[in-house]
Amino acid sequence: MRVPDWRPALTAAHGAALDWLEHLDERPVRPDADYDTMRAALAEPMPETGLPPEQVIAELAATVRPGLIAMNHGRFFGWVIGGATPAGVAADWLVAAWDQNTAMAEPTPGLSALEAVTADWLLELLDLPRTSSVAFVTGAQVANLVCLAAARDRVLADTGWDVEGQGLIGAPAVTVLAGEYMHHTIGKAVRILGLGEARIITVAADGNARMRPDALSTALLAVEGPAIVCAQAGEIATGGIDPLARLADVVDARRATSPTWLHVDGAIGLFGRASAVLAPKLAGAERADSWCTDAHKWLNTPYDCGIAVVRDREAHHRAMTLQASYLPQPGAARDPIDWNPEMSRRARATAVYATLRTLGRAGVATLVEGDCAMAQLLAEGIREIPGAEVCNEVELNQVLVRLRDPAGLDDDAHTRATLSRLQLSGVAFPSATTFKGHAAIRFSVANWATDEDDVAETLEALTDAHTRWG
Ligand SMILES: Cc1ncc(COP(=O)(O)O)c(C=O)c1O
Repeated sequence: MRVPDWRPALTAAHGAALDWLEHLDERPVRPDADYDTMRAALAEPMPETGLPPEQVIAELAATVRPGLIAMNHGRFFGWVIGGATPAGVAADWLVAAWDQNTAMAEPTPGLSALEAVTADWLLELLDLPRTSSVAFVTGAQVANLVCLAAARDRVLADTGWDVEGQGLIGAPAVTVLAGEYMHHTIGKAVRILGLGEARIITVAADGNARMRPDALSTALLAVEGPAIVCAQAGEIATGGIDPLARLADVVDARRATSPTWLHVDGAIGLFGRASAVLAPKLAGAERADSWCTDAHKWLNTPYDCGIAVVRDREAHHRAMTLQASYLPQPGAARDPIDWNPEMSRRARATAVYATLRTLGRAGVATLVEGDCAMAQLLAEGIREIPGAEVCNEVELNQVLVRLRDPAGLDDDAHTRATLSRLQLSGVAFPSATTFKGHAAIRFSVANWATDEDDVAETLEALTDAHTRWG
């Protein structure tokens, strides 16, 4: 085989990566350049001839750098984004270097076995039924899709319908119920699965966006036939955790008469179960039928890694398996291809393994508890800023803020303008939302690196953006 000199390109990448990571704290959190500037900087005709790889890597890193946002910074609070840990980043480098198409155990025994072990660790860490099946997918969107595909299989199989073979034409109607504040990825998963996004029955929530069990009970009374209930552990704006045990009671009561499945979208909050402090808030999650979470959120692995967990292995397997005569035939080993929507795939569980092995259960607990403590500290500081209001009950790691316009004119416009000024300052980067019809700023504390100094600097910059420049 041809053996290239790997060192120049990898050394250039190593240098550029360290340069980025070691100087994160000195740079603005926001990008320095916008999309149009970056398009212009990168635009050149498709190259006719190539360049030395080390030159390509060095130039690539230098050119895109102004357009990079410091998502792994301790004061990046946008959306819900963790910051990769050293072990996670390093493991991901190895994944690229090893270049294993981790679909089947026979050709890739090393990383397929590692994936199986990581799956077992996660079930233990999250205290979910140990015989559940697990899939490592790109993110919670796909994890929700996988879980709901298994749900669709099972509730229809219980009526005697084979959805994998026969599709949905002529099938009994399946009703999906979800809280008023379900994440949009539930709607998209339902749409892709042909269950009809517009047919989802939305169930009323309480003031912190938690689905109400009494409302679910009432809504289910009007539903005939198979039903899938989508609960949530960590609402995107408030961090609200549905009362999972009480929702499980409602679902269990219905199971006696009709096929009913309980899914928990725990993209944000499920890792709270690793902490003895937070676990009680998530009690009852273990009674569900499927769970989705993200490693790239609170576990702080690099992008991209979501996790789907399904109690009913057969339903999960039927929904996702793929066999072909040119592939190794199924054996006793766990083949990733049986649990994922994609066929060829990178070994994304590797970074999860490295992160879990580095942190241990105690480290994961410290991470999630630490972020919740920083969210509380931030909320306390915000409440002391005149004209600032924390709009949610901070039960997890999300802080939702509104700011009163000092001129008394338009609080929505003032809140949005304050956010822009804060983002522009480069000190901290929360993101925007609309909650209960009003503009709000969302701070999501999901990074292992965020500390008290970050909170103090953020509060100072927020106060500036709200008052001095207002
Ligand atoms: C509750 C919830 N579910 C699903 C998702 C989608 O996650 P991903 O972007 O990893 O697909 C998110 C993203 O923030 C979320 O908050």
